[in-house]
Amino acid sequence: MSVNEFVIPGLMPLLQRQAESGTVAKLVNALDASPLRETRTDAVAVADKKAIGTVRFEALGKVYQSSAGKVSALEDISLDIQAGSIFGIIGRSGAGKSSLLRTINRLETPSSGRVWVDGVDVAALDENGLVALRRRIGMIFQHFNLLSAKTVYENVALPLRVARVPNAEIHQRVTRLLELVGLADKHATYPGRLSGGQKQRVGVARALATNPEILLCDEATSALDPEATQSILALLRDINRQLAITIILITHEMSVIHEIADRVVVLEKGRIAEEGEVWKVFGNPQHDATRALLLLLEHDLPQDLRATLVHEPPQDKAFERILAFSYTGAGGLEPDFIRIGEALDTRVRLIHGGLDRIQGHAHGRLLLAVDGRAQLPKLDNLTTGQGAIAHDIQEIGYVV
Ligand SMILES: Nc1ncnc2c1ncn2[C@@H]1O[C@H](COP(=O)(O)OP(=O)(O)OP(=O)(O)O)[C@@H](O)[C@H]1O
Ligand SMILES: [Mg+2]
Repeated sequence: MSVNEFVIPGLMPLLQRQAESGTVAKLVNALDASPLRETRTDAVAVADKKAIGTVRFEALGKVYQSSAGKVSALEDISLDIQAGSIFGIIGRSGAGKSSLLRTINRLETPSSGRVWVDGVDVAALDENGLVALRRRIGMIFQHFNLLSAKTVYENVALPLRVARVPNAEIHQRVTRLLELVGLADKHATYPGRLSGGQKQRVGVARALATNPEILLCDEATSALDPEATQSILALLRDINRQLAITIILITHEMSVIHEIADRVVVLEKGRIAEEGEVWKVFGNPQHDATRALLLLLEHDLPQDLRATLVHEPPQDKAFERILAFSYTGAGGLEPDFIRIGEALDTRVRLIHGGLDRIQGHAHGRLLLAVDGRAQLPKLDNLTTGQGAIAHDIQEIGYVV
């Protein structure tokens, strides 16, 4: 069977005209016509499915040839993505995130190294193998890529029509998918009449039509307002849990990673800057690139405080000492104000800061003010062992 045998006559030109990017057409073109698996939601099936949906990058490199010469987009990427996990890819613009994601379904071909999906070398697949692979990998995009001249129902049905699934089965599956994404009442609506969040729900339903094991999301919430972002994240989390689908997502919104990802990789100029569990990477970033990305999440000094802060204790005036308490999430250590008060043996005032919970770990920075005349113990002694009250305590200045 060749890839083109799956194309309904006249469909491809239509897709090519209407799709907002060529990617959807490329994906749909490659859908497999073989019978689609039933959605398996019982515990046994989910456990069984957890064994599939793994991705491994091995010394991956990608060099683009452009008119301006060679561009090295990825270098020496080795990485394992566990089945059933939510894996985040972050990095500055141009760091290579999309290039990396697109090697998983071979929308981009690596220049060196290998990509394995469930132990299969993606580069070694023939046309049929590639068709089968792409059927197992759904993809959603920032700009939804819906067909504006087709109803919600037909947009979701499209991959199934291309795969020549019988009408009765299409009806059953599309109805179920629209229920899953909360759009059952919009089946006859055209995308132009939907909100951004609803369009993305259609995108998600379409990506799930072929019952994939892996869902790739390239900035899938970037075009949405905060409320729609939250609802799409909740939907992705449900899909991950209920269908045990591996989700690999690129985002520039650190809060998205923070909220739903299990692990995260930070790319910097095509290389891995760091990788690990989200609470560890965010709680104790090792690389400047990560720190720069996280800057917006930091609770930095407020403007009014910065304006009055001095670095020498003021003479002849009552003053307060400002201490920054940091929590990385390690060891279950959280701010405990009774213990902090006891350890510092003085009155403590919380003046700024915040704490987030990432995967159950408290992570954040608090600015505390204490009376300048109080005799404080050695701060380093308060960050280790049983008596630790924070992971790091820094004296950052004085205010009158
Ligand atoms: N088709 C292409 N031809 C030439 N260069 C490319 C091509 N696609 C990407 N690049 C270059 O490869 C590098 C990585 O691009 P990529 O799109 O993977 O980055 P990204 O991290 O997804 O960025 P963004 O956050 O802006 O989407 C960039 O320098 C980019 O200009
Ligand atoms: Mg990109």
